[in-house]
Amino acid sequence: MKKITVIGAGNVGATVANVLAIKDLCEEIILLDIKPGLAEGKALDIWQTAPIFKFSTRVVGVTNDYERSKDSEIIVITSGLPRKPGMSRDDLIKTNAGIVKEVTEKSIKFSPNAIIIVVSNPLDVMTYAAFKTSKKSANKVFGMAGTLDTARFRAFLGEALNVAPKDISALLMGGHGDTMVPLPRYTSVNGIPVTELLPVDKLDAIVERTKKGGGELVNLMGTSAWLAPAAAVMDMVESIVRNQNRILPVCAYLDGEYGMKDIYLGVPVVLGENGIEKIIEVDLNADETKLLTDSAAAVKEVMNVLDQMAII
Ligand SMILES: NC(=O)c1ccc[n+]([C@@H]2O[C@H](COP(=O)([O-])OP(=O)(O)OC[C@H]3O[C@@H](n4cnc5c(N)ncnc54)[C@H](O)[C@@H]3O)[C@@H](O)[C@H]2O)c1
Repeated sequence: MKKITVIGAGNVGATVANVLAIKDLCEEIILLDIKPGLAEGKALDIWQTAPIFKFSTRVVGVTNDYERSKDSEIIVITSGLPRKPGMSRDDLIKTNAGIVKEVTEKSIKFSPNAIIIVVSNPLDVMTYAAFKTSKKSANKVFGMAGTLDTARFRAFLGEALNVAPKDISALLMGGHGDTMVPLPRYTSVNGIPVTELLPVDKLDAIVERTKKGGGELVNLMGTSAWLAPAAAVMDMVESIVRNQNRILPVCAYLDGEYGMKDIYLGVPVVLGENGIEKIIEVDLNADETKLLTDSAAAVKEVMNVLDQMAII
C-alpha cells in the first residue's frame, strides 16, 4: 500500500502513526492535525526511530494540508476531544461530530476511494457521522471499538487464568460504551471454552470490568487511553493492507443483519482489501439478544440526538 493518512496527531493519532510505521504497512503515512507544528513534530519524532526500528515507511506531519494526503488508501480519523473524568461519551457528541464532518469532507475530496476508519468518540455515532458525510458505501466506512474492547477482555481473562492473552479468542458485540456485550459463550482459550475454565461469578466480574474498561483508564490517567487503542487500529489496518480476511469485531453499518437496520453497531466482520468483506451473523440466545438490543437502543438514541442537531 502506498499511503495512509491519520487525522489527529494527539495521543491516539500519533501512536497509530507510530505502530503503523513500525509494522512497515505502507510507503507513506501522513499525520495531520489542526494545531500548527504538532503533527510535524510528532511525525519527525517517529521518523527518527526508523533507523532503530528498521522500518521504511516515511512519516510526514502536516498542519491542515489535506492536499498532501491526496490518494490515501486508508484514512484513520482520530481528531476530536477525548473523554475527561466525569464526562460521558455522549457529552462529546456535538463538538466531535462537527470535527468528524469537517475532516471527512476535506479528506475525501483528495482521496475519494479511501477506506475510512473512525476512532473518535462517541464511536458508533461518529462512524455514522463519517458515513453520512462521505456518502460512501458502508463497507468502506467503519469504526474501531471491538478490537480494543476484546483486547481488554482477553487481557483480563489472561490475567485471571494466568495464561497467554494471545491464546484467547473472544467475541464482543454492540456499542462502544457501558452497554457493550462481551460474549463468554463465544470466548475460548485455544479452543477450550472459557466458561469451562472460570466460575460464573469471576467471568461476570471480568465482563463488567471490560464494559467499564475505558472509564477505568480515564479515571487513572485523566484522559482516555491511546496505546491499546492504537494497537487495535493497527490490527484492523493490517488485515486490510495485507488482505488477510481476519474476523474482527468492527463497528459496522447494519442493513438487516441481526434484525437491525440503519444503525452502526459492533459485530464480527471479515476485514480485507475492500474493507468489510462480509458481516458474520452468529446465533445469539435470548439473554444475549436482549443485551444486544438494549445496546443498539442506546446507540440509536445518540444517533437520533445527532440527527436532531442537524449538523450533518
Ligand atoms: N474508539 C476507541 O476505542 C477510542 C479509544 C481511545 C480514544 N478514542 C477517541 O479518539 C479521539 C482522540 O483521542 P486522543 O486521546 O488522541 O485525543 P487528543 O486530544 O490527544 O488528540 C486529538 C487531536 O485532534 C486534533 N484535532 C481537533 N480538531 C481537529 C480538526 N478539526 N482537524 C484536525 N485535527 C483536529 C487536536 O488538535 C488533537 O491533537 C477522542 O475522541 C477519543 O475519545 C476512541
